[in-house]
Amino acid sequence: MLLLALLTTQFVAALANPRLIEQLQQLGLINLLEQKVRPNVPQNWTSYDFIVVGAGAAGCTLAARLSENPNWQVALIEAGGVENLAHLTPLLAGYLQVTASNWNYLSEPQRLACRGMLGNRCALPRGKVLGGTSSINFMIYNRGNRRDFDAWAERGNHGWSYDEVLPYFLRSESAQLQGLEHSPYHNHSGPLSVEDVRFRSGLVHAFVAASVEAGHPHTDYNGQSQLGVSYVQSNTLNGRRHSAYSAYIQPVRDLRPNLHIFPFTSVTRVLIDEDTKSAQGIELVYKQRKYTFRARKEVILSAGAFNSPQLLMLSGIGPEDNLRAIGLPVVQALPVGKRLYDHMCHFGPTFVTNTTGQTTFPSRITVADLLSFYLAGNPATRLSSIGGVEALTFLKSPRSRLPSDWPDLELILVAGSLASDEGTALKQGANFKDEIYDALYRPLQLAVQDHFTLLVMQFHPKSFGRLWLHNRDPFTWPRIDPNYFQNEEDVEYLLDGIKEAIRITQMPALQAVGARLLDRPVPGCEDKPFGSDDYWRCSIRTMSYTLHHQVATCRMGPTTDPTAVVSPELKVHGMRKLRVVDTSVIPLPPTAHTNAAAFMIGEKAADLIRADWL
Ligand SMILES: Cc1cc2nc3c(=O)[nH]c(=O)nc-3n(C[C@H](O)[C@H](O)[C@H](O)COP(=O)(O)OP(=O)(O)OC[C@H]3O[C@@H](n4cnc5c(N)ncnc54)[C@H](O)[C@@H]3O)c2cc1C
Ligand SMILES: *[C@@H]1O[C@H](CO)[C@@H](O)[C@H](O)[C@H]1NC(C)=O
Ligand SMILES: *[C@@H]1O[C@H](CO)[C@@H](O)[C@H](O)[C@H]1NC(C)=O
Ligand SMILES: *[C@@H]1O[C@H](CO)[C@@H](O)[C@H](O)[C@H]1NC(C)=O
Repeated sequence: MLLLALLTTQFVAALANPRLIEQLQQLGLINLLEQKVRPNVPQNWTSYDFIVVGAGAAGCTLAARLSENPNWQVALIEAGGVENLAHLTPLLAGYLQVTASNWNYLSEPQRLACRGMLGNRCALPRGKVLGGTSSINFMIYNRGNRRDFDAWAERGNHGWSYDEVLPYFLRSESAQLQGLEHSPYHNHSGPLSVEDVRFRSGLVHAFVAASVEAGHPHTDYNGQSQLGVSYVQSNTLNGRRHSAYSAYIQPVRDLRPNLHIFPFTSVTRVLIDEDTKSAQGIELVYKQRKYTFRARKEVILSAGAFNSPQLLMLSGIGPEDNLRAIGLPVVQALPVGKRLYDHMCHFGPTFVTNTTGQTTFPSRITVADLLSFYLAGNPATRLSSIGGVEALTFLKSPRSRLPSDWPDLELILVAGSLASDEGTALKQGANFKDEIYDALYRPLQLAVQDHFTLLVMQFHPKSFGRLWLHNRDPFTWPRIDPNYFQNEEDVEYLLDGIKEAIRITQMPALQAVGARLLDRPVPGCEDKPFGSDDYWRCSIRTMSYTLHHQVATCRMGPTTDPTAVVSPELKVHGMRKLRVVDTSVIPLPPTAHTNAAAFMIGEKAADLIRADWL
């Protein structure tokens, strides 16, 4: 809060000086001054060729590509507002979860996970702002494994094998990655910036060296082989967040009269002609008034993995039992929301070191850092750290039954912990109980010595949950039960990851900085011998921390697949003029964080749609 106040002061001071405004504009901070992203007031009964619902990662990509054709009128509709200084500042990523830019969902109480959270409910944030979740996420850029996409194709999703999707990842990318200038896996002229994080703590160098010492080679996890360790690649441009909105829409917004953007506008359902089963348009609400837009060609739902299935169901497309239970007539029976995969992680282990000044604490940012970042445009201050995330290690578990080049686990080095923001953001963002914070992390707030955390993530969980509606009100939450750790083996994978994380910290490069396990027991697990397998299993079910990679709620698959909602062309099965284009179509959890795939899906969908209408 203090920091934000300070930033505001800096900013207001800058505003008083016209030359500084000019500099801010040159530095790409212009949209701070553009609260005049004039909300278009909807005109009742306007017709568009394409209506894209949701200006998130996939929606912005798709709307930008479709509106390249000046003959197509495109509407892009977004429930949230505009990005501001906080969104642009990578260090503040964690704070965005406690703002109005988050839909703020909570899971249903979990029996086998999330025991460290209030009411056993894990927080499920999603972006509600132009840019969607790409505007509040941690900016890690990660595409996935060749085998992920080949598995989609093997399930009957023709056109989605790795060789077929790689061109779309490349089309979106503008990479500036040291040492990868000539890599065939990177493009340098797409809209979305991918960079090295230019600020690096001493801890990350020690971690990367220790990973190599432990047998994890240096690699580019977006290249030929994922296995090994990499400094993180991020969706930032000159050290500032590069969201879907800033990458795809902002540069063209004022140049394309055929692209109409409606922030602060909520879509409440798709209007459907029941005889032809075709989407006619949408119903939307702006400032408490109801409007209708008509679609000449298509309605495209890009509202994300929770809201796209919600909108389908509100429009009568979904499981018969659920729709009947809430009194909605069934237009098309489909397994919408019946399957929900996520990437559940273990928050920790956390390690302390003998070093000082390396842990990333927003409150320890200096005025010199602020001036350097905001006014001089320096992309290498601590403010460009993507919430403290600095390196990723992809690895196999000894129990894996998957091919040897398909990682099971990821270790995420964070130069900090829940204590980095003194409990003011990440703790609330994840819904952690005070007792967890007080027992484990509060003592680290004041410590002079550094600490770091290795988050452990499992890529291919067997557990999956579901999402359903409990009433017909578009303004209430869908019910979301991810059913984490219902399959016992998922816990064992994370246990393998914790053991490997500890082994890496025992390597010379991390021993040289005095790295040792933070040995305060997790509340609720004190009865297990500290560090035993049973202790860690308890910790996994307590310190359950999702990285928000929910997929498959509008699963893609051929008509022969009873779990599928959309076809490989992303058309809703049995319907006309209606597609879903976002991460909800991803059929299986990928070996990746899901933002890059959302851009790929948006790019590919644009080609699929062009192929149909040109
Ligand atoms: C806190 C957090 C951190 C993450 N960190 C990373 C990371 O570091 N790297 C990574 O790869 N992935 C990360 N992810 C996941 C990744 O960002 C998302 O999977 C991805 O951005 C989703 O893209 P999408 O296009 O499917 O949906 P979204 O980007 O969520 O877009 C959906 C949009 O639709 C709008 N909308 C929804 N309903 C309506 C409605 N009824 N009317 C109008 N508009 C509506 C929403 O407001 C939103 O703008 C993170 C996610 C979270 C929550
Ligand atoms: C790089 O991106 C540009 C812009 O999207 C695209 O035209 C080009 O084909 C891409 N290059 C490669 C190698 O994919
Ligand atoms: C739009 O039109 C519908 C039906 O014709 C009407 O019910 C609604 O009130 C109109 N909305 C506005 C804002 O005028
Ligand atoms: C780190 O500090 C601990 C505790 O003070 C000490 O025992 C250890 O020798 C130190 N290690 C290094 C590498 O300095």
